[in-house]
Amino acid sequence: MFIAQLSDTHVDTAQPHKAEALRRAVAFLTTLPRTPDAVLITGDCTEHGLPEEYETFQAALSPLTMPVYVVPGNHDDRAQMLARFPLPGEGLSGFLQYAVEDRPLRLIGLDTHWPGQGAGQLCAARLAWLDEVLAQAPERPTLLFMHHPPIQSGLQVMDAIGLRGRAELCEVVQRHPQVVRVLAGHVHMPLTAGFAHTTVMTCPGTDATFQPDWAQPHKLVIQYQPPLALLHHWQEGAGLVSFTAAPERAPWVTLHDGQRWAG
Ligand SMILES: [Fe+2]
Repeated sequence: MFIAQLSDTHVDTAQPHKAEALRRAVAFLTTLPRTPDAVLITGDCTEHGLPEEYETFQAALSPLTMPVYVVPGNHDDRAQMLARFPLPGEGLSGFLQYAVEDRPLRLIGLDTHWPGQGAGQLCAARLAWLDEVLAQAPERPTLLFMHHPPIQSGLQVMDAIGLRGRAELCEVVQRHPQVVRVLAGHVHMPLTAGFAHTTVMTCPGTDATFQPDWAQPHKLVIQYQPPLALLHHWQEGAGLVSFTAAPERAPWVTLHDGQRWAG
């Protein structure tokens, strides 16, 4: 199974370059040598949660023929998203939180949206739902995806709007060894960190990446650049292997064709 992840597209009708960055990322996904089986978008789909922003967001995704699974970020509007993105599987009433069952890798989207707050939240109802749904299929390798990562980045601006309920989520995940990875967005940079028995990875934003400056952790530095995506390949035995992809680089050159190395 091959999964592409985009994040923090922040579509804003007043800033058309953000939708353009999303369109470029989508075009990149349609030209990959192997078509992804699914695309995950880990929140902050729009800047203000407005209907016209979601219309632009959905139009930008229209070239994608595979299922696209979304979760809300702090910039999103949960009601708008629930109205536009029907839950693809069993979900928690009132939240954009659901399990996708018909894939080799079970996908569970978590809703960390906390209305009016930049920080994220996993309340007791969302955590209990996750615990129960994970307990229903302990033998099935499972990927969690969410907007707010359950880690601290060491960057003060982002950690101030981090996830509330991290320790509680860690306890739930610890009980379920079939969780192979936790994917998130929010921090606009590719971070990797340990979490419970597994690993958290965050996806850069399609439009811009924050550069961690741990020497000055009160600062937040941004770099506008071509869109970035994460590509995740799942194979029984090999597990989940992830790659940070930049669509607009030099052309790909075949180094080994499966038989021999290129000269
Ligand atoms: Fe964001």
